[in-house]
Amino acid sequence: MRRPPDRLAHHGSLHKPRVVARSLRDGLTGRMTPEEFRAAAHELVDWITDRRIDIEARPVRPAVEPGDIAALLPTTPPPGGGSAASVLADLESIVAPGITEVQHPMHFGWFPSNASLSSILGDLASAGLSSLGISWESSPSLTEVEEVVVDWVRQLTGLSDRWSGVIQDTASSGCLVAMLAARERASDHAQAGGGLVRFGRPLHVYTTEEAHSSVRKAALLAGFAAEDIRLVDIDPWTRDMRPGDLAQLIKIDVKAGGVPAIVVASLGSTGVTAFDPLPEIVTAASPYGVWVHVDAAMAGAAMMLPERRELFAGVEDADSIAWNPHKWMGTILDTSLLYLRDPEHLIRVMSTNPSYLRSTADGTATQYRDWGIPLGRRFRALKLWYQLRIDGADAICGRLRRDLASAEWFAEEIIKHEGWEVVAPVRLQTVCIRHTPADLDPADPESLSRHNLDWVRSLNTSGHAFVSPSLLNDVWMARVSIGTEATERHHLVRLIELLKEHS
Ligand SMILES: Cc1ncc(COP(=O)(O)O)c(C=O)c1O
Repeated sequence: MRRPPDRLAHHGSLHKPRVVARSLRDGLTGRMTPEEFRAAAHELVDWITDRRIDIEARPVRPAVEPGDIAALLPTTPPPGGGSAASVLADLESIVAPGITEVQHPMHFGWFPSNASLSSILGDLASAGLSSLGISWESSPSLTEVEEVVVDWVRQLTGLSDRWSGVIQDTASSGCLVAMLAARERASDHAQAGGGLVRFGRPLHVYTTEEAHSSVRKAALLAGFAAEDIRLVDIDPWTRDMRPGDLAQLIKIDVKAGGVPAIVVASLGSTGVTAFDPLPEIVTAASPYGVWVHVDAAMAGAAMMLPERRELFAGVEDADSIAWNPHKWMGTILDTSLLYLRDPEHLIRVMSTNPSYLRSTADGTATQYRDWGIPLGRRFRALKLWYQLRIDGADAICGRLRRDLASAEWFAEEIIKHEGWEVVAPVRLQTVCIRHTPADLDPADPESLSRHNLDWVRSLNTSGHAFVSPSLLNDVWMARVSIGTEATERHHLVRLIELLKEHS
């Protein structure tokens, strides 16, 4: 066996977990000692690993009702410290059984929320380094690794070097940041004058009813009036924005004295994976200086595949794009990317320069606090760094291609079975399905909705698989969102059997 290098010798039991008695704790503060941490962390990592290995043995959705988990926890805080082993025991017996297992291969709900094990290592490393990201000086590596890794992903997704990126917690935050930047551009930096309330002209937001709920939320939070949010017409089948209608609405608003501020284009919408036509959107928006933000929260991962980039045509002419490696790509939450064409504008909108944060690095180093809302940041770049260095982009792309092929296969297969239909185009890895039993009138939307909600509920509560119900033109259907890291073709074969059983 190799001996640990001398510089690690004082760690003693390297790689050999052992239980450290409670009495070894720091007598004064009662805090966990490094040796106790080492032993408990080894046990925790073993436990996490075993859970991943055994994941298929557990139900996808736990059989719990609201309040069940809280009822098992003490209502008052623990009076004193306890052992890490007792916490792990409760994690196992109380907390874990209340988890919906989104890493389970039979999870087809919402969108994939993969947490590649390599990225979990990055999260652990981030926690272990425990650095404070409030300025370049407070953790130079935190800033510079983020700059480099975000640029790696830029290259992997085929974006030109005109883009600069930053990690946000979520695509919702990325959209809010874009709204704020657009608001200030459209209002000639109202915040430097009388603020939005004294601006005096309506500022307009353009999106579609298919856009994610976070878009409207961001618009309202950024101070846009609900009545100034325009829902542009969509194609009834693809649910993509109709750019002719966008051009028309912009003209009408300008004529009425309004200022068109931002268009949010969905590339891969949550409902049916709609792709708004960016080239035409940019053509309609650019004569008026309208900010174009691209919400590609889930679908952005597909930009890693050169053969799918045509879906993102026109992105180079947008102003910002947000997408989540923490969905399909597999970097553990919270790893959302926001790329901007003009970060200097964003910095002007977001910049703070309190005296206690000034340093000699000012003016030369990136200060990510000026690229978003929070001051303090975690070292989130390590999650991407670990995943890209250990799994590598080729393996990630291979998995995405597997999922695309699976979705195509599933869509072709499910319609061979009586009563099943695919109700929206399959643009990527999500297949929208509906079941109509032989004795049900397909023209009766209420009965159709009730039947589809019933089978989804029955399937999901069985714990054998999980899909998300969703409204399409006021009738319920189900989204089968393929893309969990562990999902192979035989899981989809099993899903079809289950769909037939429960419908
Ligand atoms: C298209 C789209 N946009 C935005 C979001 C919001 O993502 P986040 O949870 O990162 O805020 C989602 C979430 O699924 C989404 O599907």
